[in-house]
Formats: sequence, C-alpha cells, structure tokens
Amino acid sequence: MATSTVFTPSQCPPRPKKLFDNLSREHGFERVTGQGEVPQHLRGTLYRNGVGIMEQFGRRYDHLFEADGAVSAFRFSDDGLYTAARVVQSAGLVEERAAGRHLGSFAASWLTRLSRMHRGGRKNTANTHVVSWQDRLFALMEGGKPTEIDPESLHTIGESDLGGIVSGAFSAHPHRVASRNTLYNFGLSYGRETKLHIFALPDRGAPSELCQIPLAHPVLLHDFVVTDKHLVFFICPLKIRLWRMLLALRSFDQNFRWAPELGTEVIVVPIDAPHKLRRFRTEAFHVFHFAGAYEDGDEIVVDYVRYADGNLLGALKDGSGLSWEQSKAPPPGHLHRARIQPNTGSFHSEPRCNVGCEFPRIPASIEGSRFGDIWMQSERYIDGFLRSQISRIDEAGALRHHLLDSGQLCSEPVLVEDPSRPGKVLSLLTVVFDSYKESSSLLVLNPESLLVEARFELPQVVPLSFHGSWVPGSASS
Ligand SMILES: [Fe+2]
Repeated sequence: MATSTVFTPSQCPPRPKKLFDNLSREHGFERVTGQGEVPQHLRGTLYRNGVGIMEQFGRRYDHLFEADGAVSAFRFSDDGLYTAARVVQSAGLVEERAAGRHLGSFAASWLTRLSRMHRGGRKNTANTHVVSWQDRLFALMEGGKPTEIDPESLHTIGESDLGGIVSGAFSAHPHRVASRNTLYNFGLSYGRETKLHIFALPDRGAPSELCQIPLAHPVLLHDFVVTDKHLVFFICPLKIRLWRMLLALRSFDQNFRWAPELGTEVIVVPIDAPHKLRRFRTEAFHVFHFAGAYEDGDEIVVDYVRYADGNLLGALKDGSGLSWEQSKAPPPGHLHRARIQPNTGSFHSEPRCNVGCEFPRIPASIEGSRFGDIWMQSERYIDGFLRSQISRIDEAGALRHHLLDSGQLCSEPVLVEDPSRPGKVLSLLTVVFDSYKESSSLLVLNPESLLVEARFELPQVVPLSFHGSWVPGSASS
C-alpha cells in the first residue's frame, strides 16, 4: 500500500503532549486490525522500550531520561498483529509505589536524593533499549544492570548480573559482531577512578568481562561501535559533575558539563588482545549513536551521528524542550564518516550528508563487517516547521526519504532481515505518533522504496520510545 504525502498548509502542529505522558494502559497481547498487505516474511516480534511513567505522586520527572521504562511488543503472527505493553516493575519503582513517593530520581526530595546518592540507590529505570540474548529478553538503561523481561507476558523478572559479571552498569547499546557470534557491551563505574568495563556475551556459553580500561574523567558514554577485530569508543567531553551529582542539588541534565578543551578521546580495543589498545585525542564533538564500522586495510571506518557539542541532553528536558519550529529547534546531528588509523592516531571525519538525523541502523547480520545502506530517522523543515521522515543512504551517499505528514513523528526504524541472506533487509518497522489525532500507529515500510506496505492504528498512544529489537519467530500470541 503506497501512501501519498498530504499537503498541509504552513501551520504549527499541536504539541505532542501524549507522546511524553504515562503509558495509559498496561495489557497482554491483544489483536490489532490494520490496512495493507503484511509481507509473508514478517513473523516475529518487535520489542520497543521507552517512556512508561513520566509523572507520578503528583510530580513529573524533569527529564525524559528519568522516566520509568515501558516495554511495548508488536507480534506478527499468521492471523495478524498482536500488541502488548507493560511498565518495567523495577525494584526502585516497586519501592516507590509502596512508599507512595519518589525515592530514586531527581523528582525525590533533596534529602532523599542525597541519601540515595550516597548509598548508590538511584533507580534502574530500564527505559532505553530492549535486546534478546540466548532467548532471554532484557530491558536496558546505561546506569544499571540488565532487567530481564518475560518475552510472552512482558512481566518483569528482575535485574540480572549475567552470572556475576556485571557488578555495576551495563549500557543500553550492546553490539553483536556477527563473525564472532558474540554480543559485546560496556558499562562505566565511577569513583576515585572512572573505569570502562567491557563484556563479551557469546551466543552460546557463559558471558565474561573482557577487560577494564581507566578513563581520565567521569563522562556520559552512551554507545560504541564494533568491527570484526576491534571495539571502538569515542569518549566525548560531556563530563559528569561528580560533586554536584553527589550533592544531588540540581536536576538531572544539570549534572553534566560540556568541556571541549579536553577533546574527544578515541579508544580502539583489539578484541583478541585488549591489553594492546590504542588511545589518542582528537577534536571535541559529541555522539549518541553509531551506525556501524568496518576494517579497511590499516584503517577503521566509522559512521556515526555527530553533534558539535553535548547540549542536546539539556535541550530535551521532559519533552517540553522540543519544538516544531525550526527557529526553536536544537542543532541536529549529522551522519559522519570517520577514518581512523589506530597505529598513528590519525582521525579524519567528514559529513556524509547534510540532513539532520538520528537513530541510524545497519543490518545486525553483518555488523562488524563492510556495510552499504543505512536507515535512519531524519528531519526536514517545510515553511519553518519540522517534518519527520524515514531515510536511507546508500554507500555512494544517495538518499531516499519517506516524508511523514505534518504533525507526525516517527521512531527509530527497526530492520527485519532475511535469516538466510546476511545483510538483506526485508522490512522496516516504525511507530508513528500523530499530534493531530493524538494516536500512534505501526508502519511496515519497504526498505528499498520506503513506501508503506501496511499500517496498524494502535489501541493507545505508545509514549516516546528510544530503541527496539526485532526477534524473529513464529510464536503464537
Ligand atoms: Fe540510545
């Protein structure tokens, strides 16, 4: 089913308020009717994670990243689409609900925040990503351990230390090196020394901690990137103000300082010999998300979304900092390609296109090796107002877009791949919020034409979700 772009006169859409509100109803799998042709290959479940609770006990969190997570599931089976959604019942949330007040976030009273900060009691909201490993499902946020979720009921099983290897944090962005059949991830620990802990989670067998790397400063580190041989980290100078954090005086986003004088540290870790890592500094920039990386002779090629600074964190706020108006929008990130020579410390980065974008994805089945197309969420301004789009850029830099209607916002595109052909993408899935209708829909797009093949109007709004995973299979609902 192809869609046409509706012409809309130049006007500012309504504020997408419900996108930044609580999940209105938790439920198990329920059938949803849709329009269009669902491709035969689409059998499995899209899991997404994001905002579940933005306000409780009469007080709203002041930043989206403090929201309690909610996992949404969209299951394509032989008799149609089924959807489910549940708030992650973290130990911290359960404790707060029993106490009837905020305890483990910046929405708590100052004395409570101070007390919790010194006891390491910040809440693990599990609100950022949801990934599958060894047939187990985990909701992730970068400040805590993975939280295991029942993939059928979406009920919370609880935090896991993965057999004792994760003592502190486990980031929300693990990456699987396809050629090694292993998922890699990192976690940061803060204290007298900031340490980068790197974990290896094989498809079969026990996980392990690969190494620990001391960092010069406490920083925010959201994502990293992998090749067949290396793990690559860009340590951008978004420093955590540790004393301010420990005193718990300010709101969440005011505990960070952009320190461009430090530059960005590049750390390249050989997977087979982590102690032979290379590290050097280059110019200051900020990155939240990487698209992919691969080896090219003695160079490593890295595609990533680059920002001039770390100010986006503060600009997001609780969603109220976002605007449809171009004149009020924070500067967007742009897709860049860096070429790195670890042996010489050489780093050259150029923009790949001039479109503001985020959430780039490449096929997971070839992650770590040379890739071509990248799919991503991007933006365009028409008559001064934001229009959201799904975009694809090919190896040569050619772009194709699917422009959404005025007032619509799409989520990160999740790729559905052909299990028998590595690198072959069969469908794209994205959740779209419509500010005029105050409703959400799930779109199935053709990855080549970017035309909509099927559309499902969802029974309730899916609050802002950050990341998701496709888990193939023909499980019944
Ligand atoms: Fe992320």
